[in-house]
Amino acid sequence: MSAQHLENHPEWSGRLAFILASAGSAVGLGNIWKFPYIMGDNGGGAFVMIYLACLLIVATPILISEVMLGRRARSNPIIGMGKLADQAGVSRGWQVIGWMGVLTGFLILSFYSVVMGWALSYVEKAANGAFVGASSETVKGLFDGLVGNPGTLLFWHTVAMVMTVAVVARGVRGGLELATRIMMPLLIVILVLLFGYNIGTPGFAPAMEFMFAPDFSRVNAETFLVALGHAFFTLSLGMGAIMVYGSYMPRGTSIVRAGIWIIVLDTGIALLAGMVIFPIVFSNGMSPEQGAGLIFQTLPLALGQMEWGYWLAIVLFVLVSIAAWTSAISLVEPAVSYLWERFGIRRLHSAIAVGVATWSLGVLAALSFNLLGDLTLFGKNVFGLLEFTTANILLPAGGMLIALFAAWRMPRADSAEELGLAGWRYRLWWWLAAIVAPLGVALVFLNGLGLFG
Ligand code: TRP
Repeated sequence: MSAQHLENHPEWSGRLAFILASAGSAVGLGNIWKFPYIMGDNGGGAFVMIYLACLLIVATPILISEVMLGRRARSNPIIGMGKLADQAGVSRGWQVIGWMGVLTGFLILSFYSVVMGWALSYVEKAANGAFVGASSETVKGLFDGLVGNPGTLLFWHTVAMVMTVAVVARGVRGGLELATRIMMPLLIVILVLLFGYNIGTPGFAPAMEFMFAPDFSRVNAETFLVALGHAFFTLSLGMGAIMVYGSYMPRGTSIVRAGIWIIVLDTGIALLAGMVIFPIVFSNGMSPEQGAGLIFQTLPLALGQMEWGYWLAIVLFVLVSIAAWTSAISLVEPAVSYLWERFGIRRLHSAIAVGVATWSLGVLAALSFNLLGDLTLFGKNVFGLLEFTTANILLPAGGMLIALFAAWRMPRADSAEELGLAGWRYRLWWWLAAIVAPLGVALVFLNGLGLFG
């Protein structure tokens, strides 16, 4: 291990920068694109309740553990877990958390970049006025036309990947803090505006009912698996992204308080996105079960009928793209910081290498909507498989190992010091991380495998 590289470990400018960058990672396509569509596919209210329970009971203690491990190690997840294992006098096998994370980040980014490409292409469509006065058939045609066209998809997938690599190559502070500082408030303002517009529409009441009145007849084992997986996905949890961001966090700021801010922002924006999209769905007699195309077929429809819709559509899809962008970079960061600290490979080179590899897998994900549509396993195409296995299996498994290490392997004096917790607050975190969260993941896994009938 080359010590001179470790001395250069970068740091955020302060607590706010850490919160904004982590919230920038957390708030992304997961909130605006994925949450509404899986909620639609899983029956609404009951799914939302299970998701919120997973967030509170399982994801929160793991988020705090992951930031804590990162800041303690002050290193990327692979080398960092090695250091922490050494300090605790336990097997370096725990580095598997880091290796699995790098792999998971690579798998997620491959399809994430494709969807970010959709958002980018919708900026272009909005600017061309394609949504102005459009009917629901027109809007559906636009989406089908996009995903049915391999050339266009690959073009925008490439643009998305180049954008991601460009930021990562520039390093930790380079522009990112600023981008998130402007983007987050603007995104919230636009969503609130659209929400206000929706309140008077006929779809509003049915939408609230759909989202908040639980219908447990729609719940099955897979609902739990998807809800838990989404709690991890939306918080960027379980693959080392939050660990790396935590490693750049200055000492002396409260991990717990920062963690709570990230969760509140992320959950608030996800619920707001749902309350914007479902009124449109119900006002226009659409079905909530439209899968991955949901926001791309509802938002243009509503915006196309609004007075300032032309401009709002442009701003909205720019924001969705930026939200995706600030998330995408965090998927590459663990690998890039590892290549730097371990081998001294310059950011520019490692970011390009990781980008090219990820782009290649992404090509398969993009083509699974058209040319490779028949290539399926368990009834899922390449895109669906990547999406399902990463969020619902790899992330919860990674998160479980993180919690187990933090609670059972790290010396308690160390974790208490790093978290700045004592007394019942420390015990609460410890119980949740040591027992409740791992047990929660285990039960959902076993249930998902059908072991409970
Ligand atoms: N949380 C992001 C979203 O909701 C996606 C994301 C970024 C992510 N980095 C991650 C998911 C790391 C899992 C792990 O869009």
